[in-house]
Amino acid sequence: MDRIRIVGGNELHGVIPISGAKNAALPLMIASLLTDDTLTLENVPHLADVEQLIRILGNHGADISVNGRRERQGESYARTIHFTSRNIVSTTAPYELVSKMRASFWVIGPLLAREGKARVSLPGGCAIGTRPVDLFIEGLTALGAEIEIDGGYVNAKAPEGGLVGGRYVFPKVSVGATHVLMMAATLANGTTVIGNAAREPEVADLARCLNAMGARISGHGTSTITIEGVRSLSGARHRVLPDRIETGTYAMAVAMAGGDVILEDTEASLLDTALEAIRRAGAEISETNSGIRIVRNGCGIRPVDIVTDPFPGFPTDLQAQFMGLMTKSTGVSHITETIFENRFMHVQELARLGAKISLSGQTAKIEGVSRLKGAPVMATDLRASVSLVIAGLAAEGETMVSRVYHLDRGFERLEEKLTRCGAHVERVSD
Ligand code: EPZ
Repeated sequence: MDRIRIVGGNELHGVIPISGAKNAALPLMIASLLTDDTLTLENVPHLADVEQLIRILGNHGADISVNGRRERQGESYARTIHFTSRNIVSTTAPYELVSKMRASFWVIGPLLAREGKARVSLPGGCAIGTRPVDLFIEGLTALGAEIEIDGGYVNAKAPEGGLVGGRYVFPKVSVGATHVLMMAATLANGTTVIGNAAREPEVADLARCLNAMGARISGHGTSTITIEGVRSLSGARHRVLPDRIETGTYAMAVAMAGGDVILEDTEASLLDTALEAIRRAGAEISETNSGIRIVRNGCGIRPVDIVTDPFPGFPTDLQAQFMGLMTKSTGVSHITETIFENRFMHVQELARLGAKISLSGQTAKIEGVSRLKGAPVMATDLRASVSLVIAGLAAEGETMVSRVYHLDRGFERLEEKLTRCGAHVERVSD
């Protein structure tokens, strides 16, 4: 099993190309099931989760061809992928496939809208909380679906003549359930209004792609989304938006290690709240023509308190990385996690490197230390694992991160991107 070896102490200098967003690519790929035409997605990152979803879509009958051409030689491995689901050959998404990745549960929306039925295994995914599916069920029920859970599967059936437009106000913001309800409503009879919808940029990106396919969606990016149903959707060509979580992760890596790096092909407006927190911690951040420049010279890392929240708040997917940064701050900081109830598994691993963190309910108190020391650590989930890399960059000596398959789910060529900026990071295969 691969491990990542980091020898800390080097500053980062150079350019890091930011990949297309995993969390946009996944729902966009699933949206291809809504049409019998070809959906072409550009800037798709090369990640384990994308490969897994390709297998899942293939199981439903999607014909998928990958154009492996690098968009810019030596810098980006972004791929263009064509998805054609001429016929849906199965409306069942089996346990063996869905249990590996929670987002694959989202096929329930397009299958139900297009075929009138779906049988989808209850999902798996990172062990960061219980992550139920009640909001999906309530939302789809509001569009007329009949749903029952039986033997670990969600069985959904549309009324005769298809789903019908409806009104649903989410009692809690859910990115995935917003994606699903929006996709399902595109082919419903009549108009659907979704209240308290997720405002994440990935939701807006999906809406833009669906509109390019002929859907009639408005209000995306706000908390009220309106969808006028259409009879069918066509193919389209769409470019996946930049990965704001990868952007924030490397910005925090530079803030931690020191140096001067340009994050290329990304946009500051995707992560204003996180960039503001990094600025307050002492890094200088400016926008360039192609992305973001981040500089930290000499000064210590200042303690900053954050609370995770749905967009435009501080993203839960950057919480672990920010904690990594705060371990070396010059004072005491507090991090409160409000989205997932079990997203502090990185705490005990960061402690192996010498971090001083105590937990009280959903809040972590981090007492900054002046030195971290390299140690063997274990990745526990995708974002937790990269927080260990960030801490390792500033730790003395060698940090060896095991279980890096978590990292490979969401970070494209991490070791290469960091090494090119002067870090000592390598993949070790046993
Ligand atoms: C998406 O997950 C992301 N995944 C997550 O990123 C991200 O952490 C999360 O949104 C929050 O921003 C993808 O986009 C593929 P939610 P999702 O539904 O949609 C509760 C990463 O590291 N809830 O917005 O699954 C849920 O338990 C991943 O890239 C219900 O209670 O998250 C959580 O507490 C991890 N009932 C909260 O809502 C439901 O039916 C928000 O979850 C659905 C969700």
